[in-house]
Amino acid sequence: MSQRSQRKEEHLALAKMFFNKQKKSDFNQIHLIRPALAETQFSENSLESSLFNHRISMPIYINAMTGGSEKSFQINKRLAKACAKENIPMALGSASILEKEPDQLNSFSIARSENPDGLLFANINPDTNAHSAEKIIKELNADALQIHLNTVQEAVMPEGDRNFIWLDNLKRIRDKVDIPIIIKEVGQGLDPASIQTLQKNGFSNFDLGGSGGTNFAQIENERRELHDLAFLEDIGLSTPKALLGAKLIKQKKVIFASGGINNSMNIFKSLVLGANYVGLASHFLKFAFRGSDELCAEIEKIKSELIMLNALFGLNQIKDARKVKYYLDNELFNYQKQIEKIY
Ligand SMILES: Cc1cc2nc3c(=O)[nH]c(=O)nc-3n(C[C@H](O)[C@H](O)[C@H](O)COP(=O)(O)O)c2cc1C
Repeated sequence: MSQRSQRKEEHLALAKMFFNKQKKSDFNQIHLIRPALAETQFSENSLESSLFNHRISMPIYINAMTGGSEKSFQINKRLAKACAKENIPMALGSASILEKEPDQLNSFSIARSENPDGLLFANINPDTNAHSAEKIIKELNADALQIHLNTVQEAVMPEGDRNFIWLDNLKRIRDKVDIPIIIKEVGQGLDPASIQTLQKNGFSNFDLGGSGGTNFAQIENERRELHDLAFLEDIGLSTPKALLGAKLIKQKKVIFASGGINNSMNIFKSLVLGANYVGLASHFLKFAFRGSDELCAEIEKIKSELIMLNALFGLNQIKDARKVKYYLDNELFNYQKQIEKIY
């Protein structure tokens, strides 16, 4: 097995090892105010959504995880099967490995074979050659392209990149590909200044990838012989903080919230705080390890709970979630006041 494939397998195993070991969640600092006179009813139609010209069953997606190894073939197969059945989008793990190891294509393209008509995102690193990006999109028949920014992961990864000069290449990719691009973090959070710079350079879809869930500083530190960079594990911006930051930027943009989201209440709170779509990675991976049917059952459960939350919070349509009133605990409120002054 190549070093890259080996790393993909280790990421799956380490993510599993850290399941349920997450620390406090900033989502607990957000409190929604419920109208007692709701004037609503449970309605399946209330979740109707669309993304990149596809109708989807609700505004959630499975975020980028894997591809490029034997185990990842199985996981992608299960994730894609569930996405086809439940009609939600799926992002594949980074396919940049295909630049050097084209024989790994199967472990990614299985997702397209399992779900020929579904919404599928390819994912690459920001150093990927623009021609390779175009080739990957074609090979996977992807509908959108996620490009991940992962400085903390690279810094902690023993064999990681040490050069984070990415913007020019991002622009080359932008000029080369003809599908929507989503710039995403991988669990340390996109800050408002980076979003602003990216917007000035023609990007308009952002996956905030905040902290609070899978932590690649922790995962990569575990792969280091001396485990000596644990102090970077808390460097991230949580998803609620990243959402409050993104709200400060008034230009039109599409916000994908992800990172530490593992239940319907936190999905709903993300939408209230301004997300257009909400991504779950490790939570769905947990079910994918058990099987595709188990994953479908969990997606169905989330769907029925979102229908319930819509009705309880006085909504006829989930896309109106940001009209729900909320208040914040002191720490989060304090953060919000301070960033209003910074940006
Ligand atoms: C096993 C595993 C592998 C991942 N690989 C990628 C990747 O290749 N590209 C990427 O952009 N994000 C990757 N991620 C990050 C997720 O897309 C997501 O941003 C992060 O896990 C936070 O979400 P969560 O807390 O719901 O897991 C990976 C996550 C996991 C659990």
